[in-house]
Amino acid sequence: MENKFKRHLITAALPYANGSVHVGHLAGVYIPSDIYARFLRLEGKDVLFVCGSDEHGVPITFKAKDLGCTPQEIVDKYHAIIKDSFNRFGISFDIYSRTSSKIHEEVASDFFLKLYKDGKFIEKESEQYYDPAANVFLADRYIVGTCPKCGAEGAYGDQCEKCGSTLSPDELINPHSRLSGEKPVKKMTKHWYLPLDQYEGWLKEWILDGHKEWKTNVYGQCKSWIDGGLKPRAVTRDLDWGVPVPVKGAEGKVLYVWFDAPIGYISNTKELLPNDWEKWWKSEDTHLVHFIGKDNIVFHCIVFPSMLKAYGDGFILPENVPANEFLNLEGDKISTSRNWAIWLEEYLRDFPGQQDVLRYVLCANAPETKDNDFTWKDFQGRNNSELVAIYGNFVNRAMVLTHKYFGGKVPAIPENALNDCDKAMIAEIPVIAKALTDDLNNYKFRDAVKEAMNLARLGNKYLTDTEPWKLFKTDPERVAVILNLSLQLCANLAIAFEPFCPFSSKKLQAMLGLAAANTEVCPTSKVDGKISWDNLGRTDLIEAGSLLNPAELLFSKIEDDAVNAQVQRLAEIKKANMEKAAAEAAKLVEPQKEECTIDDFDKMDIRTATVLEAVAVPKTSKLLKLTIDTGIDKRVIVSGIAEYYKPEEMVGKQICILANLKPRVIKGIESKGMILMAKDASGKMRFVTPQETLANGATIG
Ligand code: MF3
Ligand code: ZN
Repeated sequence: MENKFKRHLITAALPYANGSVHVGHLAGVYIPSDIYARFLRLEGKDVLFVCGSDEHGVPITFKAKDLGCTPQEIVDKYHAIIKDSFNRFGISFDIYSRTSSKIHEEVASDFFLKLYKDGKFIEKESEQYYDPAANVFLADRYIVGTCPKCGAEGAYGDQCEKCGSTLSPDELINPHSRLSGEKPVKKMTKHWYLPLDQYEGWLKEWILDGHKEWKTNVYGQCKSWIDGGLKPRAVTRDLDWGVPVPVKGAEGKVLYVWFDAPIGYISNTKELLPNDWEKWWKSEDTHLVHFIGKDNIVFHCIVFPSMLKAYGDGFILPENVPANEFLNLEGDKISTSRNWAIWLEEYLRDFPGQQDVLRYVLCANAPETKDNDFTWKDFQGRNNSELVAIYGNFVNRAMVLTHKYFGGKVPAIPENALNDCDKAMIAEIPVIAKALTDDLNNYKFRDAVKEAMNLARLGNKYLTDTEPWKLFKTDPERVAVILNLSLQLCANLAIAFEPFCPFSSKKLQAMLGLAAANTEVCPTSKVDGKISWDNLGRTDLIEAGSLLNPAELLFSKIEDDAVNAQVQRLAEIKKANMEKAAAEAAKLVEPQKEECTIDDFDKMDIRTATVLEAVAVPKTSKLLKLTIDTGIDKRVIVSGIAEYYKPEEMVGKQICILANLKPRVIKGIESKGMILMAKDASGKMRFVTPQETLANGATIG
């Protein structure tokens, strides 16, 4: 089925140029797409791997406002940072461009215009929020107010970040514009909509009937969108940052970022191949695959394909959209605003030259079918007990022994010298290679990298079984066989690991004399002499008599100190975040209650008392049974403070109680009175105590 395709067009989601890239992005999108692209190139396929920065959208204008600069300055800064990070991690894009480019504006604008002229849009006027002072329409994100659900200030018109509720601007209490602070008014405005409902039947056929092989998470999301009924989607916005809507009467309007961004795949291709781009986008022999994260599924499976379908003119559709789930970090969702992330620049600073370790760990632990967790312990473990102890160790043993016994000259295998053990090992290589290839073709990169590691395991087992270090004195010919075959296996490892760990693969190729020493890892791997996927499984890749270069370690152990420092750093971030959240919550105060009189107050008998005994009430998690001395009597109060205080913390403490509250039976215990507690909006609760100890029974008023 793959064979009918002459060429492979691979896209990776265009990252927003308003922040750096972190491990979640790498694991979800860029590592898998790069592995796939490298694999296909090693197979000798015609591959084009396209990406770039997504430079439009409201959040970018927002960040610019906050920082007092222009959106262009924001995207210039982050485009450079992101591009550099990808490059340093060996993500082998053929082009990494940007959507603020001139050519993108042209392509996106023409795309819109053709659909417009072909009557593919619906024009609709509707009421939208408008800032009368700033004279602009406001995206939901630009409207802030009090959350109707949790009372938090600063909730956005689309979502409250405090409690996570999805909101609409109408629901906000005291809504105001983030630009001017004014209360927004509603005003009529015209927009263009792509009537997705008209594509429903076609989408059903194309995806639900035609692509049952897509990953279950992807297929499932598509199915629920389509079954839920599709609605027309606005493809324009009132905003001054983006691709201007190229029709009369659309002044001050731009294309919606999710309309122009995917067209970026096309415009970037055109930028790279001005004369040749159409064969990549309009030929049935092109195999198009979009690599994305799960939050992008609807746009890549439903909206963008509908745009291409509406456009017609031979545009192809994706054959597959292998979206990943999310990567968490040490048990918590990665979050830019909470700085809960590992940024690529930070990683490179703390683990210089160790790109392959992160690539390997993120692939071995990729969130392919469910959300997954990155932990520094796992990172260390996979480096030390897999990369170092299996792959690195095998290569090092083969290299060092060849240098020791044969002066670095690859020994020849004498005729008919292979024994059963050698033959069994040789027979195993193509079996593993086949499994590895199948996994890669099926986007199962976690399984694939395991198979690559199995090749190294095979090598270690072979050396352990044959023990060449015990044989050299008595049987040097046997050692020649073992080391020759081990080096052939090393060459296989250099091929098998190239998609996953290209830096160390290149180093290994150089040690084996298969690539020039000191070559930089070329960002775009090409079939390079013996390093091609066809050669995987062969045991004649390294010629007898050729000279090895000196052995170097492919990987080195990561010590506890290094990962402990990272764990410590995260703990500090978490602590700071919690303190900040608590401080913010504590600022919220409950509104004042309705007026009362001194007589109302006087009815309450409030006085001091001391806790004599405290025990948890069995079978409850919140209640403590406190025996107290009120000065009047000794009595029992059952109080819901077990969440805040342990029983032993209460004993001996002077507290204040409402003494004349009508007794109540709680969990079979009669409770006479109530303890006075102060509680802030963060939920923190403390008992009230006189500033200095007084006699029990002192009255409060
Ligand atoms: N910038 C988007 C995100 O990070 C992805 C855009 S993908 C494209 O979620 F197809 F629109 F380019
Ligand atoms: Zn809320």
